Amino acid sequence: MFISLSPVFPHPPNIYIPGPPNLNEIMPDSRLFWVILTLLTALSACGAKVYSNAAQLPEIKYDFVVAGGGTAGNVIANRLTENPTFNVLVLEAGGSNLEVLDSIVPGLDSGLFDPSLNYTWNYFTTPQPGAGNRIEPYPRGHLLGGTSSINGMWYTRGSSEDFDRFAKATGDPGWGWAAMQPYFYKNEKWSAPADHHDTKGQYNPSVHSTTGINSVSLPGYQWPMFSRVIQTTVELPTEFGFVLDYNAGIPLGVGWAQNTIGHGARSSSAVSYLATQYIERPNLHVLINAQVSRLLPASNDINGSKVHFNQVEFSQDMQELFVVQASKEIVLSAGSVGTPNILLHSGVGNKTALASLGIQPIVDLPDVGQNFVEQPLVSNSWFVNSTQTYESYTQNATQAAEDLRQWNRTRQGPLVSTIVGGHMAWLRLDANASIFDEYRDPAAGRNTPHIELQIANGIGLETPIPPEGGNFISFQTAVVSPASRGSITLNTSNPFSAPLIDPALLVSDYDVFAMRVAIRKAVKFLSADAWKGYVLRPIDALAQALTSDEALDAYMRQTVIAALHPVGSAAMSPANASWGVVDPNLVLKNATGVRVVDASVMPFVPSGHTQAPTYAIAERGADLIKRDWE
Ligand SMILES: Cc1cc2nc3c(=O)[nH]c(=O)nc-3n(C[C@H](O)[C@H](O)[C@H](O)COP(=O)(O)OP(=O)(O)OC[C@H]3O[C@@H](n4cnc5c(N)ncnc54)[C@H](O)[C@@H]3O)c2cc1C
Ligand SMILES: *[C@@H]1O[C@H](CO)[C@@H](O)[C@H](O)[C@H]1NC(C)=O
Ligand SMILES: *[C@@H]1O[C@H](CO)[C@@H](O)[C@H](O)[C@H]1NC(C)=O
Ligand SMILES: *[C@@H]1O[C@H](CO)[C@@H](O)[C@H](O)[C@H]1NC(C)=O
Ligand SMILES: *[C@@H]1O[C@H](CO)[C@@H](O)[C@H](O)[C@H]1NC(C)=O
Ligand SMILES: *[C@@H]1O[C@H](CO)[C@@H](O)[C@H](O)[C@H]1NC(C)=O
Ligand SMILES: *[C@@H]1O[C@H](CO)[C@@H](O)[C@H](O)[C@H]1NC(C)=O
Ligand SMILES: *[C@@H]1O[C@H](CO)[C@@H](O)[C@H](O)[C@H]1NC(C)=O
Ligand SMILES: *[C@@H]1O[C@H](CO)[C@@H](O)[C@H](O)[C@H]1NC(C)=O
Ligand SMILES: *[C@@H]1O[C@H](CO)[C@@H](O)[C@H](O)[C@H]1NC(C)=O
Repeated sequence: MFISLSPVFPHPPNIYIPGPPNLNEIMPDSRLFWVILTLLTALSACGAKVYSNAAQLPEIKYDFVVAGGGTAGNVIANRLTENPTFNVLVLEAGGSNLEVLDSIVPGLDSGLFDPSLNYTWNYFTTPQPGAGNRIEPYPRGHLLGGTSSINGMWYTRGSSEDFDRFAKATGDPGWGWAAMQPYFYKNEKWSAPADHHDTKGQYNPSVHSTTGINSVSLPGYQWPMFSRVIQTTVELPTEFGFVLDYNAGIPLGVGWAQNTIGHGARSSSAVSYLATQYIERPNLHVLINAQVSRLLPASNDINGSKVHFNQVEFSQDMQELFVVQASKEIVLSAGSVGTPNILLHSGVGNKTALASLGIQPIVDLPDVGQNFVEQPLVSNSWFVNSTQTYESYTQNATQAAEDLRQWNRTRQGPLVSTIVGGHMAWLRLDANASIFDEYRDPAAGRNTPHIELQIANGIGLETPIPPEGGNFISFQTAVVSPASRGSITLNTSNPFSAPLIDPALLVSDYDVFAMRVAIRKAVKFLSADAWKGYVLRPIDALAQALTSDEALDAYMRQTVIAALHPVGSAAMSPANASWGVVDPNLVLKNATGVRVVDASVMPFVPSGHTQAPTYAIAERGADLIKRDWE
């Protein structure tokens, strides 16, 4: 009998182990370690539905194995197990989301990035030539819920043109805006804000669903500066008009933030799609602390026209390897960094590049890890004449403790909302801007923003508080439709080592131009009378930057970071195209048995933040899988 769930050493017959370097050489003591691990786990049997040891898994064979229990992966797990005849195993590299307070309380999310906690993968970028060769942290969620457990909770769908461009790029109208609406609605559970304020005029109820799974709501705590933002839209309507709902297809304008928050708490995919009624399904098993190293083909014969993958290799300690079988499909949901990383280590990618690392190429798909699109972001901060900013608790431990007590007792107060703010502006460059003489407009169409201003009630992301302290407003400016393209490539053949992450920040002159416009728009926004007596002055670095274009460019290169919205590294393309990584049904090209369902399949970045598009794509991805197997 073939044992589906087994340590690789000694490997069962007919498991194909790609060429040198051999994992056995990297990890010599693995066999002994496995014996000890098995003995230990035998002593700690546990009835939970989220397992932490492979030896506890009640099944040894699964219909579907999902690699990554993140934003998209948990949607797949939930929807596939609606069918009681399918059994599903989710392998998640990180730990449990339960009782992680900083992931539950929206206002505490900055605590999730402490490297010692491992709630992120602790990745770094490669040196960024567009950013003074700086190396920057590149967080990705590393716990159940994935990046939805650590993200900023903004809920933005992008423009209708973004999705219509997906349809055009893939030849599948099913990815278009109109066809995707049911999937946004299956995901979204519109909810009252924590403070139950009157939300009339702050969103358009006709484009939201109250019957989905993941909570979305307007800000649940009202800061005094919010009314000044709205007043600005009245005073400067041509440049900064109010948009009732930026999720209705045409985002342009200044609108109220919508966030993946319900009852004052984060609604991640782990909280929502793995809620008790789902996780208790007998056909759904989740194994945490289980990092997938490779997909393995069904047989050593990899010379046929299409390789069939049906085995997933993983480890719980980066030493002992296990293999689990997927009799129907493997679903890769490891995200825009994790998915290409697993594919490349599995021998799926550019055959020349793989061979030069000593990984045997199995499927030649040169676009794996290429076309990695990221949005650059700069934080711009001003001193304000108010104590009613985030600094009231981020800079005051007594107040922070009081706010947390209030959150805990009543789910009210400033911590019910994200730290970033209550509004964002979605704007376009002028149609006659000189940059378009040289660059084709990278936005999806004329109703699609080029740039975004996130209007935050406090100091900007990663901006140090000036020595004199103070209270702040900041505009986090992002180029949401960038022209630069980066990549995910491998550094070594060890599947447990970090990949090389190149988000290509401000590499294209178009992105630099657009960022300049974005920062100057922020200055213009604050020129409205609404800010008189409130905004005092820019912090020194920004004041200096605003003296000339050259100074502004130097400042943005010194301060730019990634918006952390990467896509495209396993992009969809038409079924018969010779480029791309997956077909419009999300099936891995030139192979069978593997589907990719996560942010990496988007061929272009939507002109917003990426979780809502990822959720909707995952909802449709689940339908595509069911269509093939039901
Ligand atoms: C700090 C931050 C803030 C953000 N803020 C926002 C925001 O406010 N609004 C918004 O819309 N978007 C935001 N985003 C982006 C958004 O959250 C992501 O685009 C989205 O969550 C991606 O979903 P995914 O399913 O593709 O990947 P993920 O949610 O990252 O899921 C991938 C999962 O796979 C696991 N995994 C990876 N490799 C392996 C492996 N080898 N074996 C097993 N498991 C593995 C990971 O641990 C993770 O759980 C933010 C991102 C970050 C990092
Ligand atoms: C985080 O990961 C590192 C490296 O794998 C490990 O040494 C450390 O113990 C982990 N910390 C926690 C809190 O799990
Ligand atoms: C594959 O990688 C090699 C070496 O890194 C590179 O020269 C080549 O252009 C790549 N091939 C394709 C088709 O991208
Ligand atoms: C910190 O917060 C407490 C409680 O609100 C307040 O009494 C105190 O004055 C604050 N301290 C400063 C320095 O603002
Ligand atoms: C919340 O309150 C409960 C008691 O009501 C207490 O046990 C718990 O520690 C509190 N949690 C926090 C984060 O303050
Ligand atoms: C672009 O057009 C606007 C009017 O719409 C005008 O004010 C501006 O000067 C023009 N800019 C350039 C670079 O031609
Ligand atoms: C790449 O791998 C080498 C060792 O093989 C290591 O020293 C280096 O830090 C790695 N680079 C990155 C960016 O991880
Ligand atoms: C700050 O605001 C107060 C009123 O709240 C006002 O009296 C004072 O003049 C303002 N300070 C500055 C520097 O504008
Ligand atoms: C590729 O497929 C599309 C439909 O997906 C079709 O319109 C086109 O003719 C095909 N091209 C080739 C070369 O087969
Ligand atoms: C897949 O394989 C075919 C023939 O084996 C090859 O022509 C094609 O370039 C490969 N890649 C893609 C993306 O289809």
